[in-house]
Amino acid sequence: MAPEAARIAVIGIHGHGASHVLNAGRVGRLVAVVDPRPPQPQTPAADDDVRWFTDLDSLLAADLALDVAVLCTPLHTHAAMTTTLLRAGLDVLLEKPPTTTLAEFEALLAVSAETGRLCQVGFQSLGSQALERVDQLVASGAIGTVSHLGAVGTWVRRRAYWQRAAWAGKRSLDGRPVVDGVITNPLAHATATALRLAGARRAVDVTSIDLALFRANDIEADDTSSVRIETEAGPTVIGAFTLCAETERPPSVTVYGSTGSIRLDYTLDRVHWTHDGGTVTTEHERSDLLADLIAARTDGTALLNPLADNGAFMRVMEAVRTAPDPQPIPSAYVRWEGEGLDAHPIVPGIDAALARVADEDVALHRVVKFSTSWSRLRA
Ligand SMILES: NC(=O)c1ccc[n+]([C@@H]2O[C@H](COP(=O)([O-])OP(=O)(O)OC[C@H]3O[C@@H](n4cnc5c(N)ncnc54)[C@H](O)[C@@H]3O)[C@@H](O)[C@H]2O)c1
Repeated sequence: MAPEAARIAVIGIHGHGASHVLNAGRVGRLVAVVDPRPPQPQTPAADDDVRWFTDLDSLLAADLALDVAVLCTPLHTHAAMTTTLLRAGLDVLLEKPPTTTLAEFEALLAVSAETGRLCQVGFQSLGSQALERVDQLVASGAIGTVSHLGAVGTWVRRRAYWQRAAWAGKRSLDGRPVVDGVITNPLAHATATALRLAGARRAVDVTSIDLALFRANDIEADDTSSVRIETEAGPTVIGAFTLCAETERPPSVTVYGSTGSIRLDYTLDRVHWTHDGGTVTTEHERSDLLADLIAARTDGTALLNPLADNGAFMRVMEAVRTAPDPQPIPSAYVRWEGEGLDAHPIVPGIDAALARVADEDVALHRVVKFSTSWSRLRA
């Protein structure tokens, strides 16, 4: 007899959660959704056999014999809601970033251990088999001795992105940490993927973090930043990110070696190995993190991204949370394009500057000073 499909609830369904609603029906049975706002008509969340609740307590009170919850709510709600779900006996796919403070993360780890429930963190790039390809190439000496890893992300985000929710672009909201900056949220996969390739999983695997945080948007958090992370046993990880790019490109993580380099385009599961002047490109499959969580419930296999393996990323989150506010980029170095909610800032020259930060292992504030030296660099 085929095993019964896992009974799933998705919490937070309108933003990125809409993709989880679709996926839940593919890999299990969507039983309920939770959101203060009703499901959109003609979506799977609005189906007759899917119950809608406006809050988590009503979901749990309904006693629906749930197996798994997918939590896709604002960052500052993750710790408390995941704690409630684990204590209610559910296994959880928790959207990234796991929590907004390191203390909350450690408390959540304790709850997961105490309840024996599983918690997978939704960095979907960590389900890619492209990571194994990179690991194998490095281990075989394909690029010689590794010097460092560089993650680069050049994205464009419009005003509508920052205005979609009260928490967007905030460092804190009503006294609660949010930490919605480019390093910790929109391009968080880049740092998380680079840390994983560098072998840094636990908080203790990170020995030091240097940040350069800037913003061109009228927000609290950073939108143009660099981060340099020293790891205990592996190479240094550099991250160089902006949401104010000249040209949006797929973000990447590059492993730099003495005889070549390996670039992983992690949103495309594509690996480019460059050596002796030639490049070999391969494409890879990706495992779904919810399917992986459901499989782990029955066969006891290790999760692809268990909560505990996000400690190194949480050290970065904590460093950004406790850093001074990002420096505003003077308007002379910012160009705006578009109108109204479509408008977005561009920092001319930033794409090349960030590539240099990652290639050369140099901090963003050394490459750009947003003064006369920035003009010289651009010339
Ligand atoms: N893995 C990815 O690629 C990816 C991409 C985008 C966003 N995310 C993550 O998804 C999460 C949500 O981000 P978003 O951009 O969709 O946010 P959003 O604010 O656009 O959407 C959040 C949803 O949660 C609902 N919500 C708010 N408070 C709630 C509560 N207490 N109970 C139930 N529902 C509640 C909102 O009504 C909304 O439907 C974040 O953790 C974000 O980092 C992940």
